Amino acid sequence: MKHFLDIADFTSEEIQGLLTLATRLKAEQKRGESRPLLKGKVLAMVFQKPSLRTRVSFDMAMRDLAGDALYLSPNEIGLGKRESIADIARVLSGYVQVVMARVFDHQHILELAKWSSVPVINGLSDYNHPCQAMADALTIYEEFGSLKGRNVSYIGDGNNVAVSLMKAVTKLGANFRIANPKGYDMPQGDIELGKEIARENAGSVTLLREPQAAAEGADVIYTDTWTSMGQEEEAKKREAVFPPYQINDDLLKLAKPTAIVMHCLPAHRGQEITDAVADGPQSRLFPQAENRMHAQKAILVDLLLGGDPDDVK
Ligand code: CP
Ligand code: NVA
Repeated sequence: MKHFLDIADFTSEEIQGLLTLATRLKAEQKRGESRPLLKGKVLAMVFQKPSLRTRVSFDMAMRDLAGDALYLSPNEIGLGKRESIADIARVLSGYVQVVMARVFDHQHILELAKWSSVPVINGLSDYNHPCQAMADALTIYEEFGSLKGRNVSYIGDGNNVAVSLMKAVTKLGANFRIANPKGYDMPQGDIELGKEIARENAGSVTLLREPQAAAEGADVIYTDTWTSMGQEEEAKKREAVFPPYQINDDLLKLAKPTAIVMHCLPAHRGQEITDAVADGPQSRLFPQAENRMHAQKAILVDLLLGGDPDDVK
């Protein structure tokens, strides 16, 4: 059983293969030539947290490929509350062909995958956000033609988005830099893993405190919210620590003139990113959001059809 839970579970070749497939599926959709690759397949979308992009992009990904999706809100299922995760996984497996879940505790997605007899996709946990990272890699790939040797600088909280982004871009040979305040580091185990992935793929991982040092010479400047879902009670404390990490015109000037700005969204304008940068010529925020759909089409096709349908076997 193949699931999509963590970028680290996939080889560089597999990640590259998914990007190639995503690029092809995107082009087909743009030409109005999408194929009914997922006809008869239904995706269950289980949410413990709010969502715009994940919900709509997965739904539209399924529709584009002639499949269907159903949304199960936080109140409906009560994952682990109304019913055990093991039972939910086995029940859903009898109805649908694939499950996507957005959870608080990463253990819950692992538990779902353990008991499910259909593929499970991680639509964000407190630990990581691998679907986002695939869309991010696709966006960088489209911009520069390759990630090899590109400087991808993440500035802000060492959170779920940072962890997955690091793994995806280093798998593809980029140099990942992160600047975050003390006390907001990525988990130590992931930092070690990121460094190992980078070594294997001629990239690098650099840990910094100064946002300026990360921005210097960057090809990509990436940021995310200072306070993730589930951390709301820390918001005030975080708002006092993170302002030096704002992506604004002064910081962006330090990057290469060809640099692009990325944000997984939702954005807190005036906090981690200014309006001028989010809406400026270097922003790729909205193409990046659109790419969620294309990247996820590739993930869905790969899981449901057992690989790239156009590969000669
Ligand atoms: N980037 C992202 O996952 O957005 P949503 O929370 O709206 O799904
Ligand atoms: N780090 C953010 C990402 C939202 C898509 C969160 O977990 O809330």
